[in-house]
Amino acid sequence: MSQDWIVACDFASIAANDVARFDTAEATYAVIKTKDGTCSVIDGLCTHGKAHLAEGFVDGTTIECPKHNGRFNVLTGEPVASPVRVATTVYQTRVNDGKIEFRKP
Ligand code: FES
Repeated sequence: MSQDWIVACDFASIAANDVARFDTAEATYAVIKTKDGTCSVIDGLCTHGKAHLAEGFVDGTTIECPKHNGRFNVLTGEPVASPVRVATTVYQTRVNDGKIEFRKP
């Protein structure tokens, strides 16, 4: 059974082509808005060296890690540029009543 939706932030609080950090007591996340307004919430820490991806750069549907410039597809979590080799987790994400929300499987 899916868990409840978690509100990450206001949709308007993130610019297009940008990323923000969102933390809970248990975990840290990167909340991404692509240039066309698509939102995606992924695990905050890079699978390569644990740098926070919210410090990285959004380019199209990819995010570049700030530490060694590895890249992930923000919609699938797949690594798309080395040295990243392990996919990250992408959560089910929606925009609801002006808020970006996500949930875990
Ligand atoms: S820590 Fe992200 S690419 Fe190395």
